[in-house]
Amino acid sequence: MFTSSGAEQHPDYTSLAHQLQSLLEGENDLVANAAQFAAFVYETVGDLNWAGFYLVRPAKKAATLELLVGPFQGKVACARIPFGKGVCGSAAQDRRTYLVPDVHAFPGHIACDSASNSEIVIPLIKGGQLFGVFDMDSPGLNRFSHEDQVGLESLVAIFVAATDFK
Ligand code: SME
Repeated sequence: MFTSSGAEQHPDYTSLAHQLQSLLEGENDLVANAAQFAAFVYETVGDLNWAGFYLVRPAKKAATLELLVGPFQGKVACARIPFGKGVCGSAAQDRRTYLVPDVHAFPGHIACDSASNSEIVIPLIKGGQLFGVFDMDSPGLNRFSHEDQVGLESLVAIFVAATDFK
């Protein structure tokens, strides 16, 4: 189905955007699209050891919201992350992309997989509402460039537009 010959360090994000459009075409289910999206990113963007979702859900112990792990590719991860904690909770709280070149230099980074050295987290915002974040980890230091950020944000935007979060 994909023209890409596998995961690449410098993927052609325009080509990936076209492939993603056809992958998600005609489907708006959250679990299905999120699973497909995580697998698509993991198999086309090179040098990743984790790619997946944390979705906004009611907290277990208090009448508040937190992030709960969703569909992903990679090793098992921490299930729940409070807003404001770690890279994911920070991106959710501030509603902006966090590009972290060295996770060991990020105060409060939550280490789910000791192989991770850099990370990028992109918020999922639709109609002004935050539904979660998409998180990518790499074993490489400084894996994600500004070009990667722009390209990955464009892929997340396609996923968000295609998906019904209700
Ligand atoms: N490193 C993240 C936690 C999630 S795992 O990387 C899958 C963080 O600091 O929020």
